[in-house]
Amino acid sequence: MNVPFYEKIWMWVAGGICVAFAATVLITGIGGALQPPSHVETIDPTQVFRDPRFAHPGVRVDEHGTTVITVGMMFAYVPAEIRVPVGKPVTFRMTSADVTHGFLIVGTNANTMLVPGYVSQFTTSFPEPGEYLIVCNEYCGLGHHLMAAKLIVTAAQP
Ligand code: CUA
Repeated sequence: MNVPFYEKIWMWVAGGICVAFAATVLITGIGGALQPPSHVETIDPTQVFRDPRFAHPGVRVDEHGTTVITVGMMFAYVPAEIRVPVGKPVTFRMTSADVTHGFLIVGTNANTMLVPGYVSQFTTSFPEPGEYLIVCNEYCGLGHHLMAAKLIVTAAQP
């Protein structure tokens, strides 16, 4: 097959772009330890606060570790302030009481959608103590830009 010289150049450029796109996904995904929430668990979005799993949002510590129960709704998170220990695995269990919201802890790999009808769950840990901003990164209505909360990662007990 006779492929003209300039066409060969463009084929290599197109192939290179495909490789670059795939590498971007792999490097950010594996390098940043990003992972899609893996638990497929449903909930009635109209009954979130009556559901025993979400009736008492907040931080729970037991023999399994730290679990954060959070509900997103227009235009706030419940609870608005979350305290977790540094360097320990923390499992977030979250859902939405109305429309689709986002849940991004700025500067960390914690980032998921809160989809009404589903429970989003992931486990991560925070190596640095400090205050982190939690923001909604899915447009959810007129107050979207006001939807935020605070994560406080506390230093280990002496
Ligand atoms: Cu909630 Cu945007």
